[in-house]
Amino acid sequence: MTITVLISGRGSNMVAIHQACQRGDLSSNISHVISNEPDAPGLVYAQENGIETSVIDHRQYSERHDFDDQLLTLIENNHPTLVLLAGFMRRLGADFTHALRGRLLNIHPSLLPRHRGLKTHEKALSAQDRWHGCSVHFVSAELDGGPLIARSAVPVESDDTADSLAQRVLSKEHELYWRATQMVLEGRIKWRDGHTDYCGNRLVYPLTLRQLRRRTQRSLSNH
Ligand code: GRF
Repeated sequence: MTITVLISGRGSNMVAIHQACQRGDLSSNISHVISNEPDAPGLVYAQENGIETSVIDHRQYSERHDFDDQLLTLIENNHPTLVLLAGFMRRLGADFTHALRGRLLNIHPSLLPRHRGLKTHEKALSAQDRWHGCSVHFVSAELDGGPLIARSAVPVESDDTADSLAQRVLSKEHELYWRATQMVLEGRIKWRDGHTDYCGNRLVYPLTLRQLRRRTQRSLSNH
């Protein structure tokens, strides 16, 4: 089982996934990292760790779907089991998300469905939210709107800035993503008819990090 990771920047979630593979916590490995930004710092980490890297610069495509087609071809050449968006800052069209449905996951820095899109930490602060966090979901054509798999919440402190909040959320992202990915790799979590299926039943509430810890520990110790 192999994973392709799509990045646009520093790629700290990609690093966390890679480290989980190295530790054996994730029963897979990253075989390919693709960036739409030629200077993404995450590419350096991937190269230093012997992972194949590719760049598809979106600026070289006047049509959005040409970029998507090229990206999809490049991904499918490697036949990955799963494709993870990790700080990938391009919107993907319906043909692309349809072609990879059930194999394409994203991590988003908010408690979805609250605060889709960009600047989520600023949005949480200006809405005076008491809780903020991150979500892992299957990707559909709707921006940050695909079926939820798991979420992790952090309290918003009265002296929080967007940066302090982002930092606290990011440390949750780094654990939530690999644990949710492991559940999908094991087939315990699946995309079914546009919903998340958990062990044969429709998942009504996204799993919490605590639930994921219990479930991934149990399954890993069974290996
Ligand atoms: C993360 O907060 C991720 O959830 C969001 O963008 C940020 C990217 O971080 N989509 P990194 O590139 O994984 O470090």
